[in-house]
Amino acid sequence: MMQEITFIPENHYREAADFIEQRTDKAPTTGLILGSGLGSLVEEIQDADIISTTSIPHWPQSTVLGHEGRIVIGHLGKNTVLVLQGRVHFYEGYSMAQVTLPIRVMKLLGINTVILTNAAGGLDPDYKAGDIMVIEDHIFPPGLAGHNPLCGPNLGMFGPRFPSAIQTYNPVLRKLAHQIAEKNGFTMREGVYVSLSGPAFETPAEVRMLRAWGGNAVGMSTAPEALVAYHTGMRVLGFSSITNKSIDNTAHYEEITHEEVLKLGRQIVPRLTAVIRGVLDTAPPYDPETSENHPENG
Ligand code: HPA
Repeated sequence: MMQEITFIPENHYREAADFIEQRTDKAPTTGLILGSGLGSLVEEIQDADIISTTSIPHWPQSTVLGHEGRIVIGHLGKNTVLVLQGRVHFYEGYSMAQVTLPIRVMKLLGINTVILTNAAGGLDPDYKAGDIMVIEDHIFPPGLAGHNPLCGPNLGMFGPRFPSAIQTYNPVLRKLAHQIAEKNGFTMREGVYVSLSGPAFETPAEVRMLRAWGGNAVGMSTAPEALVAYHTGMRVLGFSSITNKSIDNTAHYEEITHEEVLKLGRQIVPRLTAVIRGVLDTAPPYDPETSENHPENG
């Protein structure tokens, strides 16, 4: 039985960060978490230092096909990035604190901007498999029901006890992402991501409910990481790759398979890479003053 750790002490984050720092001479300022089927984005990273997550102290290990469990530190365009190829999920038996450990380690490494990607179902009837959605906001039922990753003693070094969540997904970076897509000849959606615990896909009745709540896409990750990143003053940008349409009636039987999710993810990678690279190359410099959750502003 996996040990579920609901509170992680400060020294665990530091030990993981120290381990990574000793294995690279690069100082990444952007973190990138790659969702299901999107792992091949690491092939774009130049001059890469690769660290297996199995060797990092306290690091939760991915158990899911399509999530490699590697950290790749190198250059993407003008930027030095740390790419996590393979995240862990709550449904694997990890606590939300463990799921979000990589974000806090990124913070200790000096990262100020994170880009979170995921595979998602399209709740919005207009969405098609192969679309990319910029995350405008999220609905996070596990968090509302007591599994918010910020539960437990607050580590003030990371952020305030009662953080705001109004602009979790950075408006400037979102706008920039759309501009870059237009320049590259395609458009992206923008909408509300519903973050469930999974691992079962949604029932048709749940799909209708989530739609009524205002959700546009649904998946099993991202919101916990976004909250922990925003809490600590980072800029957050999120993308959902729509790998399937959500099925909203029991008369229509069509299986959503993990293999299909991985396949669609791979088709989306070239467009997603162009947007991420473009955003990072043109983003304004990080300014802690504009981050209302930064500890000094809290
Ligand atoms: N639901 C939840 N998670 C997903 C889906 C879905 O339809 N597709 C890819 N990840």
